[in-house]
Amino acid sequence: MSCVVIIGTQWGDEGKAKMIDYFSAGADIIVRYQGGANAGHTVVTGGVKHVFHLIPSGILHPDKVCVIGNGVVLDPEQLLEEVDAIEKQGIEVGSRLFISDAAHLILPYHKLFDELVEESRADRIGTTKRGIGPAYSDKALRIGIRVGDVLNDEYLAERLACGLSMKNRQLAQMYDRAPFDSAKILDQVRNFRDRMKGNIINTQYYLHRAVLQKKKILLEGAQGVALDIDHGTYPFVTSSNTTIGGALTGTGLSPFNIDKIIGITKAYVTRVGEGPFPTEDEGDDGARLREKGGEFGSTTGRPRRCGWFDMEIMRYSKRVNGLTSLALTKLDVLSGFKKIKVAAGYEIDGRRLEYFPSSMHHRIRPVYEELDGWDEDISACRSFEALPLNARSYVDYIRKTLDIPISIVSVGPDRENTFILE
Ligand code: IMP
Repeated sequence: MSCVVIIGTQWGDEGKAKMIDYFSAGADIIVRYQGGANAGHTVVTGGVKHVFHLIPSGILHPDKVCVIGNGVVLDPEQLLEEVDAIEKQGIEVGSRLFISDAAHLILPYHKLFDELVEESRADRIGTTKRGIGPAYSDKALRIGIRVGDVLNDEYLAERLACGLSMKNRQLAQMYDRAPFDSAKILDQVRNFRDRMKGNIINTQYYLHRAVLQKKKILLEGAQGVALDIDHGTYPFVTSSNTTIGGALTGTGLSPFNIDKIIGITKAYVTRVGEGPFPTEDEGDDGARLREKGGEFGSTTGRPRRCGWFDMEIMRYSKRVNGLTSLALTKLDVLSGFKKIKVAAGYEIDGRRLEYFPSSMHHRIRPVYEELDGWDEDISACRSFEALPLNARSYVDYIRKTLDIPISIVSVGPDRENTFILE
C-alpha cells in the first residue's frame, strides 16, 4: 500500500473507524480530509472504547503520524478536548499530529448559526449542530478564518473583525440575538494557537514529500457517499464532498497518487437525520437492527434509522468513487434474521430505474429480493469458510452482484473480530 483511501459507501456510520484502525497498522501517515466534528469515529481496542470526532483514529497507534488536511473544518475547542482525552489515556499526541494551515476554523458563531438556521427552515436537515454548514459557507463566501491565520495576531484580529461584523449584523437583524464578543473568541483562538502552533504546517507540501519518500498514506473519509454535497440526497446532505474528489481537494494530493479506494459497507443500511432512505424499515426488523447493531449516533446520541442493504446505492458508490474493493462490516448483526431483504434496485411508478437519481422523491420504491438468514453467532469466525452457509451466500451475493472484491469482513466491534477475504 502506498496511498489508500477509505470511503463510506452509504449514509455514514458504516464502521469506517474500525476499518481505518485496522488499515492504520500498515500505514505511516493517516489523514482526515473533509468534514469536521460531525463525524464520530468509534474504535474498540482491548474492550476500551475510543470516540474520535476530529483527530484521525490512527493516533491510537503510537508510531503513526496523523494529519488534519485543508479540507477539514476544525473546531479548536473540540480539538483540544480530544488531545487532552487521548493524552489522559497515556497516548502521546505531541509531534504526531499535523494540522493544515489552510483548514478552516469552526468558531462559536458557526455552531449558533447551525442551530438557528435549522430551527428556521421548513425542511430540517437534522444536522449535528457542530457548525459544519456555516463554516463551509463562510469558506465559500471567503470570510472564513484559516488555521494558519492564528499564527499572526494582527491578521487574525483583522480577519475576525471582517467575518464577525457580518455575523453580528445577521444575528441582530434576522434572529434578534445578542452579538458575539470578538475579544472572547480571540482568547479562545489564541489558547488553541498557544497549544498547537508547533503542529500547524503546510500539510499539502508535507504529504507530497511523504509520497516521494514512499511513505504509506491512509486517507480517512468521514460520512458517506449519499451525504456528499454534490452526489448525495441533496438537500439532506452534509456540506463537504464525501466522495473521492474530497480526498484530493482536501489534501492537495493528485489522483495519480492514489492506489486503492476501499468502500466501507455495512451489511445493512442506517441513516441519521432527515431525508430519503428507500430501504428504511420502520417496523420490528428496523428496531431489531438498531438494537443489535447499537445504532445510536456517536456524535449526537440520536437513534439511527435502520433498513436493508441497497444495491442501487452501492452501484452508485462504486461508480462515483472508483472503488477497488469493499470492506463489509457488522455482518454479525444479521444473525438471527430468518429472511434478509436486499433492494436489488429502485422503481418509480412501476418503471425500473437504472441509476441512483439526483433527486429522490417519495415515489421511489425499492425492489426487494429475499435471502435466507442464519442463526449462529458469527463473531468468533475468523475466515470466510468458518461462516455458516447462508452468511457466505449473502457475502457472495453482494460480491457477485456488484462485481467487486470484498477484501475484508468485520463480525464484531473489536479489532480481533475481523478477517481478510481477498
Ligand atoms: P451536518 O454535517 O452536521 O451539517 O449534518 C448534515 C447531515 O449529515 C445530517 O443528516 C447528519 O445527521 C448527517 N451526518 C453528518 N455527519 C455524519 C456522520 O458522521 N455520520 C452519519 N451522518 C452524519
